[in-house]
Amino acid sequence: ASLGRFLACLPKAELHLHIEGTLEPELMFELAQRNNVLHTLPCKTLDEMRAAYNFEDLQSFLDLYYAGCAALICEQDFYDLTMAYFQRAKADNIVHTEIFFDPQTHTLRNIPLRQVIQGIARAQKEAEQSLGISSGLIMCFLRDQGPEKALQTLTEAEEFLEYVVGVGLDSTELGNPPSLFQGVFERAEELGLKRVAHAGEEGPAEYIWEALEKLRVQRIDHGVKCLEDTKLIGHLKDINMALTVCPLSNLELKIYTGQLEERMIELLGTGVLVTINSDDPAYFGGYINANYLWLIQKLGLSSQQIADLHANSFKASFLPEETKTKHC
Ligand code: ADE
Ligand code: ZN
Repeated sequence: ASLGRFLACLPKAELHLHIEGTLEPELMFELAQRNNVLHTLPCKTLDEMRAAYNFEDLQSFLDLYYAGCAALICEQDFYDLTMAYFQRAKADNIVHTEIFFDPQTHTLRNIPLRQVIQGIARAQKEAEQSLGISSGLIMCFLRDQGPEKALQTLTEAEEFLEYVVGVGLDSTELGNPPSLFQGVFERAEELGLKRVAHAGEEGPAEYIWEALEKLRVQRIDHGVKCLEDTKLIGHLKDINMALTVCPLSNLELKIYTGQLEERMIELLGTGVLVTINSDDPAYFGGYINANYLWLIQKLGLSSQQIADLHANSFKASFLPEETKTKHC
């Protein structure tokens, strides 16, 4: 219980959070009603929706996650979604967060990119002023839509780059290796954008190598499959590469089923720069503190280990160097 209090008091950073994955069923239904699109939701009732949060793998989650986005239409919806996350973040004592969004999930439904970015950005500005939470926005390409669409999305986003710190790569991992997106990430680098990619969540350790070497990423999202490759673990340590690990997500998406606790202990033991994050908290049963609490309860983490993980998040953030060291 005292570790719980220690955790609650730590001012934290979050580096792996999909804003669409913070859409709680209550807000989803409220927005859908407001927009007269209740009939387009994947479930008819809140209870049915909650019961559907029972996943076999990444794809079964993604199907529901994309379907739920049907509720998000107006600029105000993206503002409300993002503000609701900031309230949750405040409750968990998050002081800095780097938020992912999936532009193509919305542009594919003919929602203008401007509407999406402006709604999120308005909430970011408001949260900075009223809640004291700083944040960055990272635009993720949907890897299952292919590299041409990703490049098109990047070009479309060029007029909004003042709102975006970096690009990422997410969605269906298996069969969509990072190497396909080398050109897009080169363009992002030319534009001065930071780069991250989901790799080694469901996919193999090889995808982590590709993200490092072909996409020149500054963080690996998930990356837990590095445990299959000793040489890779050594390399991640050598280059001080951060992994944004999401324990409750891995649990719910059946990554390392039946041995997740052992694998997390192993991962923490490697000395790789691990950070703890919530991924899609509305779907996986908990925000950042719940992710830390799971580790405390299942792995018996000490307060020193929690403090180290917490410091790692600031080290691995895209905050200016002066600001980082204040928190570590
Ligand atoms: N999009 C949202 N959450 C994701 C995850 N955990 N992996 C891949 N794509 C995602
Ligand atoms: Zn993710």
